Amino acid sequence: MKIKYAIVFICIVALVIIEKESNILSRVSDKLIQRQTPQQTPQTPLDYSNTTQKGSLMALKMLLSKLSGPKGNYSNFSEEQEEEELDDLSSYSYSGGRKHILLMATTRTGSSFVGEFFNQHGEKMFYLFEPLWHVERMLTTTAKTNNGTVLAGLYRDVLQGLFLCDFSSLEKFISPPPQDHVTPALFRRESSLSLCEENVCSPVIKDVFERYHCKTRRCGPLNLTLASESCLSKQHHAIKTVRVRQLDTLQPLVEDPRLDIRVIQLVRDPRAILASRMVAFSTKYQTWKAWAQDGQVPEDDEEVKRLKVNCDHLRMSAEVGLSQPRWLRRRYMLVRYEDIARYPMQKAEEMYKFTGIPFSSQAREWILRNTQTTQEASGIYSTQKNSSEQAEKWRFSIPFTLAQVVQRVCGPTMKLFGYRFVDDEKTLTNKSITLLEDKLFY
Ligand SMILES: *[C@@H]1O[C@H](CO)[C@@H](O)[C@H](O)[C@H]1NC(C)=O
Ligand SMILES: *[C@@H]1O[C@H](CO)[C@@H](O)[C@H](O)[C@H]1NC(C)=O
Ligand SMILES: *[C@@H]1O[C@H](CO)[C@@H](O)[C@H](O)[C@H]1NC(C)=O
Ligand SMILES: *[C@@H]1O[C@H](CO)[C@@H](O)[C@H](O)[C@H]1NC(C)=O
Ligand SMILES: *[C@@H]1O[C@H](CO)[C@@H](O)[C@H](O)[C@H]1NC(C)=O
Ligand SMILES: *[C@@H]1O[C@H](CO)[C@@H](O)[C@H](O)[C@H]1NC(C)=O
Ligand SMILES: *[C@@H]1O[C@H](CO)[C@@H](O)[C@H](O)[C@H]1NC(C)=O
Repeated sequence: MKIKYAIVFICIVALVIIEKESNILSRVSDKLIQRQTPQQTPQTPLDYSNTTQKGSLMALKMLLSKLSGPKGNYSNFSEEQEEEELDDLSSYSYSGGRKHILLMATTRTGSSFVGEFFNQHGEKMFYLFEPLWHVERMLTTTAKTNNGTVLAGLYRDVLQGLFLCDFSSLEKFISPPPQDHVTPALFRRESSLSLCEENVCSPVIKDVFERYHCKTRRCGPLNLTLASESCLSKQHHAIKTVRVRQLDTLQPLVEDPRLDIRVIQLVRDPRAILASRMVAFSTKYQTWKAWAQDGQVPEDDEEVKRLKVNCDHLRMSAEVGLSQPRWLRRRYMLVRYEDIARYPMQKAEEMYKFTGIPFSSQAREWILRNTQTTQEASGIYSTQKNSSEQAEKWRFSIPFTLAQVVQRVCGPTMKLFGYRFVDDEKTLTNKSITLLEDKLFY
C-alpha cells in the first residue's frame, strides 16, 4: 500500500512539472491537433511545444486513475481541460492544418501595414486586400440595401467563400461583371502578392494599351479560376478588411468546421483616426474641417453621431473578443496600432504566434526594411513610414477642440484601449507626455 501511495505521489509531482513545462495545456493541445492533420506546418524556433508532453500527460493521467482506485478518483481533475480538448477537436479537425486569419480593422488604423505582415509571409500564404470593397460598393451605390444586418450577413458569406477559395460569392459583386470568370476590376489586386504570382498571371493581350494589373509582372486581367486554384494550393489564408463592423456577426464563420479562423482586431486612438481621416478623406471630412476652423462642434450633428457609432462598434467588438465567449476562445487577439508602431517586430512575432503560423524570414525582413527607413511617405496609403514617428503626428494636426469632442463621444472606447485623455492643448502637443497606457489584452 505504501508503495502504491509513493508511486501516486511521484506521478503527481511529475504531472505538475509536465503541466508547467507545457506552459498552457491548451497550447499543447492546439499543436497536437495541428500534427494530426495531413498538412503540417514546419516548426519555428519559437515553437517549443511537443506532442510528447501531451502524450505522457495522458499516459500519466491514465496511470493515476488506475493506481488510485475508487478512493482517489482523478478523472475530475482534468474535467475542464478535457472539455476544452473536445472543443478543439470538434472545431479544428477539418481545416487540414490550414489557418485562416481575418485582420479586422477600420480605416486609418494601419491595417494595410499590418496586412503586409501576412502578405509578405511567403509562398505559402494567400492574402486578400479588402475584397469586401466590392460588396459595399455595389450595395450602397445601387441602394439595394442599407440595412446593417443584411450587409453584415453578406460580408460574412463572402468572407466564408473566400476563405474556402470559392470566388463565386464575391464575383456577384464585382462590377462590371466578370466575363468567363475573368475581371480587370478586382480592387487592389496588386496589393496581394499571391494574385500576382506567375501562375495567376494571365497574358497581356493588347500590350500597348493594356493597363498592367500587377506591379511585379505584366499581367492581364485576373482569371478568378486561377486565383481559386492558387488559393487552394496555399497553406494559409489571410484577409484584411475594414468593413466588418461587429465581431459577433462573424460567429457562424468562426464556427464553420472547415475553417480554423483567427481574428486579429486592430485598433487605434480614435483621436488619431479622426485626424488621419481628415487628411486622407479630405472631401468627406469637410464638416470636421469647418468645425476645426470655427471651434464650434454641434454635438447632435450626424457626423458626431456617426463617430460615436463607430467608436461603439470598436468597443463592443473588443468586449466580445476579450470576454472570450466559447466560440471565440483562443481565436481572438486585440492589437493596438500604437504598440505595433513602437515594437513592430515584437508585435508581429506575437501575432504570428497567436495564429500558429511560423514567422517567416521574408516577413521579418519586410518589417525590418519598412520600419527603419527615414524615407518619406510616398502617398497616403503608403506603408513605408518611420512607424514610431508617424504614430504621434496626429497630435500636432488635430485641433484641441476636436480632440475634446472625440474624448466626449468615444470616452468608454478610449478607456478600454488605454488611451489617455488630455485636458488642454499643451498636453496634447507635448511629446514627452505619452497618451498611451501600457496595457495587455487577454
Ligand atoms: C518532440 O518529439 C519528437 C518525437 O515525437 C522528438 O523526436 C523531439 O526531440 C521532440 N522535441 C522536443 C523539442 O522535445
Ligand atoms: C470516477 O468518477 C467518474 C465520475 O466523476 C466516474 O464516471 C468514473 O467511473 C470513476 N472512476 C472510477 C475508477 O471510479
Ligand atoms: C468529483 O466531482 C463530483 C461532483 O462533480 C464530487 O462529488 C466528487 O467529490 C469529485 N471527486 C473528487 C475526487 O474530487
Ligand atoms: C434589416 O433586415 C432584417 C432582416 O431582414 C430585419 O429583421 C430588420 O428589421 C431590418 N432592419 C431595418 C432597420 O430595416
Ligand atoms: C481561366 O483559367 C482556367 C484554368 O486554367 C482556364 O480553364 C480558363 O480557360 C481561363 N479563362 C480564360 C477566359 O482564359
Ligand atoms: C524613427 O523615428 C523615431 C522617433 O522620431 C526616431 O527616434 C528614430 O531615429 C527614427 N528612425 C529612423 C531609422 O529614422
Ligand atoms: C512637457 O511635459 C513635461 C513632463 O510633464 C514637462 O516637464 C515639460 O515642461 C512640458 N513641456 C512643455 C513645453 O510644456
